[in-house]
This record gives sequence, C-alpha cells and structure tokens, in this order.
Amino acid sequence: MEFRNRDIISIKDFSKEEILHIIKTAKKFIPFAEGKKYSDALRGKILSSLFFEPSTRTRLSFESAMHRLGGSVIGVVETTTSSVKKGETLSDTVRMADAYSDVIVLRHSQEGAARLAAEFAEHPVINAGDGAGHHPTQCLLDLFTILNEKKRIEGLNIVLLGDLKYGRTVHSLAYALALFGANLTFVSPKTLEMPKEVVKECKNLGAKPKSTTVLEKAIKDADVLYVTRIQKERFPDPEEYNKVASSYRVDLSLLSKAKRNMIVMHPLPRVTEIAPEVDKTPHAVYFKQAFNGILVRMAILHLILGGKTR
Ligand code: NCD
Repeated sequence: MEFRNRDIISIKDFSKEEILHIIKTAKKFIPFAEGKKYSDALRGKILSSLFFEPSTRTRLSFESAMHRLGGSVIGVVETTTSSVKKGETLSDTVRMADAYSDVIVLRHSQEGAARLAAEFAEHPVINAGDGAGHHPTQCLLDLFTILNEKKRIEGLNIVLLGDLKYGRTVHSLAYALALFGANLTFVSPKTLEMPKEVVKECKNLGAKPKSTTVLEKAIKDADVLYVTRIQKERFPDPEEYNKVASSYRVDLSLLSKAKRNMIVMHPLPRVTEIAPEVDKTPHAVYFKQAFNGILVRMAILHLILGGKTR
C-alpha cells in the first residue's frame, strides 16, 4: 500500500484495504483534532487551498487538518480576488500553486477539473469536489462515520436520499458502499435519479440497488439514512429547481416510522430537507460526521505527504 505523493481524485482509485487503512489512520488523530495533543508531523509543508466554489466544512477542515499537523496553508477562496478573474486558465493557476506548495486541494464547478489539475501538477492534487462529479474525501469521512456508528457496512440497509443526479457526495458514496457490500436504496424525485453509470458501477460490484420516489416505505428497515440537499446551483433552469425543491423533509413524524437505531447523515449544508427538531434526537449524526472530516483529512495529508510518525 503506497500513499506517498498520490493524487486523491476519485474513491474508485482506492481498494477496500486502502480505504480501511485511511480510516484506521484517521482514528489515531482524534486527540490531535480535538486540540488535546499537538503534532508537527508536517512542519515545513505547505497546502494550497483552491476553492472556486462555495465551501465551509471541506475547506475549513482541510485547513484545520493541515494546521493541526504543524503545516501551513495558502489559498484562494473565490474567483474574484485571484487571477482567475483576469482570465487565467485553471491549468496556469494550478501550475503556480504547484510551484508554491506541496499539495493542492481543489474545488471546482467543472467535472473532471481535479483530474485535469493533477496532469499539470507535480505535487499531489486532492479533489475537494468537481461539479456534479466526485467528492472522495467526503466519501471517506462518510464511510468512517458509518463504521464508527454501526461497526460494519456489509449487509446494512442504506438509503441515499435527495438529489442523486447532481449530488457528487452520493456518486462517490454509492460506489464505495457497493464495494463494501451494503444494501442500497436510492430515493429521489424522478428527475433527480442516480445517474445510470453510477448504478451500473454499483451493479458491477455485485450490489442490487433499488430505486424509488417514496421515502416512507424505504425508511422502514433502513440502518442509515443519508440525506442530501437539492443542488440548486446545478439546475440549468430555476423553474425546474422550484418543482423539486421541497420534495422531502426528514422530521420527527417521518422518523417515528424508522428503526430506533437508524442514523441520519448529511454532508451539509442542509436547507429544508432535515427539520431542526431532528438535531436533538439520537438519530442525528451529521454534526459528528462533519467533525470526522478533520480526522480523515489529517490522515490523508499525513499519508500522502509522508508525515513523520509519532
Ligand atoms: C457537499 C458538496 O460540496 O458536495 N458539501 C460538503 O462538501 N460537505 C454537499 C452539498 O453542497 O450539498
């Protein structure tokens, strides 16, 4: 298993064993992520944080992870203050970040942007979300959360809900859950179904995903409900968004139909798809899930930058 200098573009680039190794490494970082211990494993290393799309958790947790490991961060957080505004191409911006740092974390609205960036960069590139494509580090923290809460993935009934067409987190997660042998149910409005290629990939891994528009039925024997936001920014026509915007809402009345130990996950940000009243129930793990992002990102940075072992 070799992680040093590897790009992290898609979860499909990783084997089951590699994914489990990242998760195992992430666990070791709990006291560091909580600020109880200090590490200088990445002292002298610099991370370029290039975010050309909005982000809160992904950017902050990557930056926090780098600082917690003793490294530094430089970055561009939107397109109005950098030379992208002047018309610079992504490849030139990436070349510069590559010259100024040891690892590049890139979020971009175009599918395939991270893969392209990796061709221009000598240093590793981490895909922090490429349009409606993939979000591998979110996927790793989602798997970490499920394993932590449920102790296994194989044989669990997992419902992926919401915008399965444009949601990049569910594209990565469906693949990984199929790889680990979960029973998948996809619940979405008809127009926002899981893309055929993703369904096909899941089937190739031996999964038999079910698709439905009816949440009430799917939730009954679910162990995990993974909720996503309808991705407003990716709709070519705002009218189309309005038609599906409030398709689903997870609230106490819906949860009364679920198993008592079903967990509710969400990559966040949420809009109206989970009622705030759910936050106080034992079902809600989405804030813990967001915290787990630091652990997984510390593990990834440590592994690919060859951090000193403690
Ligand atoms: C997600 C994303 O950017 O894909 N957010 C995240 O990284 N936690 C989900 C979303 O924006 O809906």
